[in-house]
Amino acid sequence: MTTQQTQDQQLRFPEGFAWGAATSAYQIEGAVSEDGRGRSIWDTFARLPGRVVNGENADVAVDHYHRYRDDVRLMARLGLGAYRFSVSWPRVQPDGVGAVNQRGLDFYRRLVDELLGQGIDPWVTLYHWDLPQALEDAGGWPARDTALRFADYAAAVHDALGDRVRNWSTVNEPWCAAFLGYASGEHAPGRREPARAVLAAHHLLLGHGLAMAAMRAQRAGSRIGGCVNLYAVSPLTRSAADLDAARRIDGLQNRLFLDALLRGEYPADVLADLGEAAEGLAETGDMGVISAPMDMLLINYYSRFTVSGAPGGAVSAAAAPTDTGSPWVGSEHVSFAGSGRPVTGMGWEIDHDGLREVLLRVAGDYPRIPLVVSENGAAFDDVADAGGFVRDPERRDYIEAHLRACHAAIGQGAPLVGYFAWSLLDNFEWAWGYGKRFGLVRVDYPTQRRVPKESALWYAETIRRGGLTGPAQ
Ligand code: FCB
Repeated sequence: MTTQQTQDQQLRFPEGFAWGAATSAYQIEGAVSEDGRGRSIWDTFARLPGRVVNGENADVAVDHYHRYRDDVRLMARLGLGAYRFSVSWPRVQPDGVGAVNQRGLDFYRRLVDELLGQGIDPWVTLYHWDLPQALEDAGGWPARDTALRFADYAAAVHDALGDRVRNWSTVNEPWCAAFLGYASGEHAPGRREPARAVLAAHHLLLGHGLAMAAMRAQRAGSRIGGCVNLYAVSPLTRSAADLDAARRIDGLQNRLFLDALLRGEYPADVLADLGEAAEGLAETGDMGVISAPMDMLLINYYSRFTVSGAPGGAVSAAAAPTDTGSPWVGSEHVSFAGSGRPVTGMGWEIDHDGLREVLLRVAGDYPRIPLVVSENGAAFDDVADAGGFVRDPERRDYIEAHLRACHAAIGQGAPLVGYFAWSLLDNFEWAWGYGKRFGLVRVDYPTQRRVPKESALWYAETIRRGGLTGPAQ
């Protein structure tokens, strides 16, 4: 093949591939006290001193609640085929139980109609971390009842929107909600009770299963899946200690969730690592509920962990995302050594091939179901010019490399049906506040002005072409 032919080669994606971008309710909506919305654990947490950088909160965020029409128009201009967003539970049920708040539901109905009107497929996530505070006060995710309440809420939303939304996901990243929320305390509700975090993980999974059953009982035809954040994990060396560290992190981060959802069991080695915290975790029947067949699995992918089991090993900034402060991944077992790869503005190592590895691993080790990359993207220290435009070749390269990895994984047999860039807009990045910008679209926070970044224009062109150009990976 000549160089010219290689250059011109089109890396096409399968027919019907979903080209999207993703957001979540608390990170973009603002309007936290409007139209009957109740309080969420993030409203509370963000007000605790020292928990969010600069004491920021998402009371206003990027004001999407009021600007959704313009935001949908922007999506249409970028040519997005699909948009993944989350529904705020406390907007729909202010206290997490009982009658629905019609005004809250109506917002999502309007948003969905707007999307459909622009030919954009709405993908609804039911839980992206904004638990109603009243449910946290009653015990939060470590309490079994929260899973039952979640199923009721999911059914209420599905009942209202199921006639116009086909693609649904239940819980976003149960690992984060459980371990960052209840073990390390880096996320709301900020509890540091590692053993309760394990229960929280189980109940988030149970909530997924119960919600899916409730939604299926309402109507056929919805495509429903769970959503997990998976990492590629490598041992620093082939030493027994490093291999064991990799097993341990892969177990807690990936297999605990994949095995439960796709095999109906928790991995024995992870249960052994967890010890007493995992005793009596599942009641009879729970694992069957959790592993009921899904229509798809949503995978969020950002980075690879390179880990070491040597005591006192180097700890890199890349440790932050999984440093749960829990006894099972504490420094006596594992250190996050890093591999020296370039990092994003979060300090997360960039490894697109890890995405290919993760997709092929799920496709090969588990029963075959359609896979979706439901989040992938990067924060960088953007600099806007006078017109608000950001040249962000690093972000464009990050997304392009990961899309190439998706293309390669498809070629090698992964049943990948969609890709969602995180995120459509700059937004409130949880404990990091507004300092970390993941958007394809720049938001100038004081004016709320939106300006698509160079990466957005590149992504729009890629979508228009239906794929990438240049040599295959
Ligand atoms: C994921 C979250 C998402 C965003 C990205 C950067 O873990 O689901 O809300 O914070 O990370």
